[in-house]
Amino acid sequence: FQRGSLSGKHVLINAGPTREALDPVRYISNHSSGKMGFALAEAAVEAGARVTLVAGPVNLPTPARVARVDVVSAQDMLAACEAALPADLFIASAAVADYRPANCAEQKLKKTPGSDDGMTLTLVRNPDILATLAAHPQRPWTVGFAAETHDLMTYAADKLQRKNLDLIIANDVSQSGIGFNSEDNAVTLIDRALNSSVLPRASKTKLAREIIARIADLMATTNKH
Ligand code: C5P
Repeated sequence: FQRGSLSGKHVLINAGPTREALDPVRYISNHSSGKMGFALAEAAVEAGARVTLVAGPVNLPTPARVARVDVVSAQDMLAACEAALPADLFIASAAVADYRPANCAEQKLKKTPGSDDGMTLTLVRNPDILATLAAHPQRPWTVGFAAETHDLMTYAADKLQRKNLDLIIANDVSQSGIGFNSEDNAVTLIDRALNSSVLPRASKTKLAREIIARIADLMATTNKH
């Protein structure tokens, strides 16, 4: 096979945050920029793949030759990812909100008149998009991300096994200047045999090319699970 090539493959990538509505004007979300996922989409196109990029609300231009599907909530993101199957490879780089408000008010929530009391929000669990696709009848070769502040390797390896992934990309978000919302990243790749490989700090563009090349080679040498 050709090293690093994804020629003829359909690659599905999700990226960015999700937004979980509280009412027509408010939501719960996070600071994910979507940069890593967009860089991976660009690198996958360079490697010869047909790429579908399911993006939460981000401020990034669509890379050339990438089919982009914009979504807002985790539930929408899951539906868009499932609709994009079959895919040979799925890379879950999105920062999916783990919980959403139990109810989305139809009208703007109001302060209780004459009261200084706080308010309590009830949240319910969102679906795990990565675990859902990894358990899908049309399961792609599946890659997840693990952003951790401590015990990176232990948690990442646990996530790989629990979510039934082929590869997990671990990044230490306690280091400043890398990861969430920054230009650079540094990651450790862990495969199913628990072999790990460190990719030192680099721009997300450079790192994405290296990650895609490693994935292409792993896909060519390992079977789907
Ligand atoms: O369990 P944790 O959220 O740390 O796992 C991170 C990985 O799981 C990321 O690849 C993320 O995209 C994915 N994920 C998901 N759906 C969720 C939560 C996380 O796909 N609801």
